Amino acid sequence: MDAVNEIKNRADIVELISKYTVLTRSGKTMRGLCPFHSEKHGSFFVYPESGTWHCFGACASGGDVFSFIMKMEGLNFSEALERLAETYGVVLPSRSEASTHNEHRNELVAVNAAAALYFHDLLLNSPSAAKARAYLEKRGVNAGSIEDFQIGYALPDWQALKDHLNSAGYADDILVEVGLLGQADSGRLYDRFRHQIIFPISDARGKIAGFGARVLDDSQPKYLNSPETPLFSKSGALYGINLAAQTIRANDAAIIVEGYFDVIISHQFGFKNTIGSMGTAVNEQQVAIIKKLSPNLIIAFDADAAGEAATARCVSFENLLGREIKVVLAPPGKDPDDTIRANPSAWETSLGNALPIVDFVFDMAASKFDLRTARGKAGLTERLLPVVAEIKDPVRRGHYLAILAGKVGTSPSELQYSLSRQALLRSVGKSSTLPPHDSPSGLHGNACEDYLLAIILKHPSIVENQRIPDPEIFQSLENKEIIQLLLKYPGAESIRDKLDSFTRSRFDLIAGIHLDDKNVALKFQECCRRLEKEYLKTLLIKIQEAMKGNNSEGSADGSPELTEHISAIAGKLAELDAQDAIRRRAPKR
Ligand code: UTP
Ligand code: MN
Repeated sequence: MDAVNEIKNRADIVELISKYTVLTRSGKTMRGLCPFHSEKHGSFFVYPESGTWHCFGACASGGDVFSFIMKMEGLNFSEALERLAETYGVVLPSRSEASTHNEHRNELVAVNAAAALYFHDLLLNSPSAAKARAYLEKRGVNAGSIEDFQIGYALPDWQALKDHLNSAGYADDILVEVGLLGQADSGRLYDRFRHQIIFPISDARGKIAGFGARVLDDSQPKYLNSPETPLFSKSGALYGINLAAQTIRANDAAIIVEGYFDVIISHQFGFKNTIGSMGTAVNEQQVAIIKKLSPNLIIAFDADAAGEAATARCVSFENLLGREIKVVLAPPGKDPDDTIRANPSAWETSLGNALPIVDFVFDMAASKFDLRTARGKAGLTERLLPVVAEIKDPVRRGHYLAILAGKVGTSPSELQYSLSRQALLRSVGKSSTLPPHDSPSGLHGNACEDYLLAIILKHPSIVENQRIPDPEIFQSLENKEIIQLLLKYPGAESIRDKLDSFTRSRFDLIAGIHLDDKNVALKFQECCRRLEKEYLKTLLIKIQEAMKGNNSEGSADGSPELTEHISAIAGKLAELDAQDAIRRRAPKR
């Protein structure tokens, strides 16, 4: 067993965490006040069986003994390893093994440095690099940038780099290990990069981890990168971080762009806090590197569909950074490289006017749906509600909920209710679905459901101009199945064949219900409200039960999330009651 698992086995996570916060037993878990943020109600749980912890409050994070001690004591992983190994008497691999490992890494770094120097020298001096120099000039890259970024050129030959580095004393296996050489099926080794512009990719300390390379024409693939190696992982790299780190700290903000040229041109025009994601998707690893320098991030991706989509995926990183992320958009079809070269001072202005990321995502989504139609409103809600759900800060979440409600013409409390219910279903899992129709609370529930379905069967158009209840609120499993199919396949006839025999007999019964065709819409709405109220009341009981189980003293003030669900549901119930009252007072037609 390796040292890490040995430590996990030996460590008593309850004992360890108890040194930092008081834990009390709550069923199979232990609970206490979170040691990482200040709170009045314990939302911090420890799971002795799996040796893990989780904070359901502001941190919304968790892990094992290692992550705990790292976070608590501000250690990096190897420091935490040493600390815990000592505490639990686990012997770590000897220093000499560790230093062999380090020596090897240093050798890999040295190979990359030698290769970068060779490529750079070729670009500056080789007659064969004339086309490459002309290309960079055409792209507006000046000599200073070529120097700063150590841009290079690889010759068209298949073994030029191999021969050069071999004669400098580097063996083939290490050249293969850093990805500079590829190996053909025949076993023959060849230079990976040929007749390309070379961009060395450094880590934050300036050590070259890998390379990017661009062809000199429009052929595909346009760019080629080093493969995954012990030094290089595309997902953990940020192009230009070595040159940008200091300015990111000083300006307390980072600008992230997609491409190599976007970074180089940004720096050349003085925007030296710019780094590149090297492709569109940004990941947690990259965000963690940025956060160490500054929590303020501006995203400036290409103004195309891929760039917009990648931007939208960054909303959840606000929680990692603890700050609002901003977005700058280049003119349609352009990237920062084009934009800055066209007008550097306009770029400065754009950065100053950067939009909060959620505003950006809202605008983008709103332009894609026709909000005059019910379908468009539903589509927009479906697209944006999960985005709002990512926002942890309640004030900002409320702000965007109100904006969304305004766009789709509903009330914020309605949306808050959908949000809470989604979250609740996720957290309590499938077990929160309601029991089948023999539950006592559903006394007139089933009859009401049947009636509702009968209306939909007989008046299919009602589906288009009335708000349709979520199938989740149906208590009868057969009715739930039927409404789901009815919504999916409007027009009654087709769905009968899709039902199992049990559900089909229910369907036939519903189809046989005699309906008075007066005031159908009002009856429909009334049924919906009644079902919804019953559903919400059952849900309230479930949450209260969950809170009891959750809380050793049996009082009902345990978790803020559950309390939030309760108030959302109570608000919704009050709203439904008010609607009922208005309806009762209205004159009968
Ligand atoms: P773009 O296609 O936007 O490249 O991809 P670009 O930098 O604007 O390209 P040119 O040179 O101006 O035409 C953005 C980034 O995605 C990565 C590169 O890091 C590129 O800079 N990429 C793109 C690849 O790794 N491989 C590819 O084939 C394309
Ligand atoms: Mn681009």
